[in-house]
This record gives sequence, structure tokens and C-alpha cells, in this order.
Amino acid sequence: MRQPLSQKQTPPFMPAENHFPKKAMVSSTARDLPEHRKQVEEACHRMEVFAEKMMENLTAENANAVEVSLRLVDEADLYIGIFAHRNGYVPEKDNPRQISITEMEYDRAVERGIPRLVFFMHDDHPVKAKDVETGPGAEKLKALKKRIGGERVVAYFESPADLRAHVIQAISQLKNEYKKEHGEPPHRFHYVHPMSKPPEVYVAHPYTLLQAVGLIGRAPELNLLTDWITNTPPSGGQGGLWGAILNIIAIGGMGKSALTWHWFDKIAPLERPDLAGRFWWSFYESDAYFENFIIRALAYVGRKSVEEVKKIAKPEREDLLLKILDTEPHLLVLDGIERILIAYARMDAARYLGDDEYDRRTANYVAEAYGLPESAAQSFTGEARLRQTADPRAGRFLRRLSKVKSSRILISSRLYPLALQTVTGHPLPGCQAIFLRGLSDDDALALWRHFGVSGQRDELLRMFHTFEKHPLLLQALAG
Ligand SMILES: Nc1ncnc2c1ncn2[C@@H]1O[C@H](COP(=O)(O)OP(=O)(O)O)[C@@H](O)[C@H]1O
Ligand SMILES: [Mg+2]
Repeated sequence: MRQPLSQKQTPPFMPAENHFPKKAMVSSTARDLPEHRKQVEEACHRMEVFAEKMMENLTAENANAVEVSLRLVDEADLYIGIFAHRNGYVPEKDNPRQISITEMEYDRAVERGIPRLVFFMHDDHPVKAKDVETGPGAEKLKALKKRIGGERVVAYFESPADLRAHVIQAISQLKNEYKKEHGEPPHRFHYVHPMSKPPEVYVAHPYTLLQAVGLIGRAPELNLLTDWITNTPPSGGQGGLWGAILNIIAIGGMGKSALTWHWFDKIAPLERPDLAGRFWWSFYESDAYFENFIIRALAYVGRKSVEEVKKIAKPEREDLLLKILDTEPHLLVLDGIERILIAYARMDAARYLGDDEYDRRTANYVAEAYGLPESAAQSFTGEARLRQTADPRAGRFLRRLSKVKSSRILISSRLYPLALQTVTGHPLPGCQAIFLRGLSDDDALALWRHFGVSGQRDELLRMFHTFEKHPLLLQALAG
């Protein structure tokens, strides 16, 4: 399998088609390659490609393993195949050629004509005996590798870190190729997942920034979120964190999306297994304007196609959506909703104003909110106009949303939407606000050390305090 050095360095390459790579399906056997998979995920993250969660434990019990895994290929615009010395799981049923899932995935990628990046383990790569399959599996794998190798250039990796470097190089080449042929990816480029059916989660726009690090700390905030979604209205209607809408408010880069995403993805489904559905929507994507949100949300919770929903008159769409949310317990996340507020909809302003300036200009203040410093407790409601929704219908809809009984809506935003506030600056009934602050000392240090940078605790903390342990700045410094 050894090949000349010059070729060994050549990244696998395939001309980019009309896709600017945004979402990759990483195909590999799981048990023998956990570290490699992690490295590939990190490489994708570096290159701003979303690496679809790979199937961790495919066994005969996963009756629909094949279906799930092929759907992942269908949803991806880039295939990354990692091949070591295991053939992996071969489903018994409906599998006339008795081929492995990884082989099916590869074939599906070929069929779809998406770019394929393929990496083989180099002969010099150390392996454990248990990670080398023997018998018929080994024969199958050999034949597959021969087929793939004959089809295209394959790169060889000698370690997980080497694989990571290869993946970064290959994606970067793919992106350059795309740009050469099609110019810069269109500004309005976006990725929207195909619709799924509840109770299966529907993530319209994946949040990719946590792939490499994972959420660090934020235990108190996670607990607040869990309290909120598990709490029922206290008798008498006073006290406790409950209500239809919870707003997480902070300046950009403070970790709103990271916190929200981790909780939505990992915790909420465990704490509320009874949820009828979970829906994640980010207003950062260019397709994510208000009406599109209504259409997608209704299609999802109403189990309809987008086309069907589009035939319904606009006001009726909202009524239908609210009715379902009122009776069925869904969890909706509206990430980055400041984008539909006047302050941010005015792009010219966005270019000149810093976040703090926004807070000041827009009177970003909510009475009795969690975590809001005393210094902010001044009422300047007159200036809050910039916190109105650019589309008045959106504001009206948000108000109605705060009254739904069964569902819970988590909003993250730089600015607290004026629509969810009373004239006295209090949140509307059914709404809560948490102002997110910087990380705790220990969490800030943990995030710092994750990047392998050293330093003495006290000195580091002194430095971190100068920017309030803001996670994005912290990352930027560490990087
Ligand atoms: N608690 C945390 N642990 C690890 N990474 C974090 C944490 N909070 C924020 N980050 C990272 O900091 C960056 C900014 O966070 P993000 O949630 O996107 O900010 P926001 O949504 O508030 O603008 C991202 O790269 C994110 O992954
Ligand atoms: Mg965000």
C-alpha cells in the first residue's frame, strides 16, 4: 500500500460542483477510530464545515441504522471517508451484497456526485491487533479500498494529527477550487436542513462553533434553563423561573448560542422526554427572516410540507402555529433574534456601533431580570424604539407566542425585544430574561487551557478580568 512520497502528500481532490462545502458527512468505522473522528471534526470546524454527527454505535439493534446513515449522506454536500483496518458493521437484512454501512455510504456519495475526500490509514500508522479485522470482513475491505483507490486519489495518514492536517488541506483546496470556478460563495449562501418530523429534532441551521471544544462550565445557567423547562406555574402565579418564553441576553460572543445549543442538544431532551418536538432556528442565516421562520416552524410542528404551508394565507399560518404550540409541548429555539430588530436590520448602523453602544442606544434593559447589573437599572424606555421588530407582524407574533401554554420558546438575543416588554420595562407575563455574564474564573481558565496555552492562574485571571471573561475574546487571545 506504500506509495511514493510525492503522492503521499497530494490531498485527495475532486472538482467542486455547485456546492460550496458547508456540511460534511464523515464516514468511518467508530470503535477503532474515536480519536481520528475527533480530529476530523476539529478540522471541519477549523474550515467552517459542519461535520454531521456520526453514528457512534451501529449494531443490529439499530433497525434503521442504514436509513439514518444514508440520510446523513443525502443531506451532506461533502463526503469524508476514513478507512483503517476494520470493515465494520454489516447489516444482515435487506443487504443482498452483504456490504458494510461504510461501503453503502461511500456508494451513496458516488451516486449523489458530491465531492469525496478519502483517507486511508498508512502502513506506518501504529495499530492494535484488535483493531484489525480478519476473515471475510478483511477481504471485503480490501476489495473496497482497491475500488476506491482505483477511482481517485487517496491520501494516507500516519496519525490522527496527520489526518487532521490532511482534512484541512483538502477542504481548503476544495473551497479554493469552488471560488476559482464560481467566484466567492454567494453572500446569501445558506444551508437549511431538510425538514424532519417531530418528535425527531429539527435543526434548521446547525450551530457549529462548539464542535471542537464542547461547552465549558455554565452550570448555573444550564440549571436555570432546566428549571424553566421543567417548572410548572407556581400556584398564585408568583416566583420561580417559568413561562412560555425565556430570553438569554448578552453582547455578541458572550456564549449565548453555545449555551443554548448545548442545553437544547444534550440536556433538554433528557429532562423533558415528553416533548412533542424540538426546533432550532438561527436568525443569523440569510434565509432566516421572520416569514420563513413561520413557514418552517409550522411545517415542522404541523407535519406538513413547506409547499403545503405556503398555500395557507399568512395570518392563518400564525394562528395555526400558535394553536399547535399551545396544545403540544414543543421546544423552540430562536437564536440571534436581534437580527430582526430595527437596530440590527439597519446594517449601516451595525457596521459602526459596538455592542456596548447598542445596549446604551437601545436601552437594553429589563426590570427584574436575572444577572442584570444594578448599574443598568435605569429606565430609558423612550429610547427602546430600536428594539422593535423591523416587521411589526413579527412583534405581534412574539407577543402572542408568550401566551402559549404547552410549548417553551428559548430566545437568544443581543437586545431584549421590545415586543416582550411592558411600558414600565418589565417582561410581559410569560416572559423571563437572563442577562448572560462572562465565564466564571475556573471556566475561563479551563477554556484558556483547552487551547494548550499556559500561564499562571492569578496573572491570567487579572488579564481575563479586563474583558470580563468574555469567551470569544478569550478564544481569540488563546488562539
Ligand atoms: N462556555 C463555553 N465553552 C466553550 N466555548 C464557548 C463557551 N461560550 C462561548 N464559547 C465559544 O465562544 C464563541 C462565541 O460564542 P457564541 O455562543 O457563538 O456567542 P454569542 O451567541 O453570544 O454571540 C464560540 O466560538 C463559542 O463556541
Ligand atoms: Mg450567537
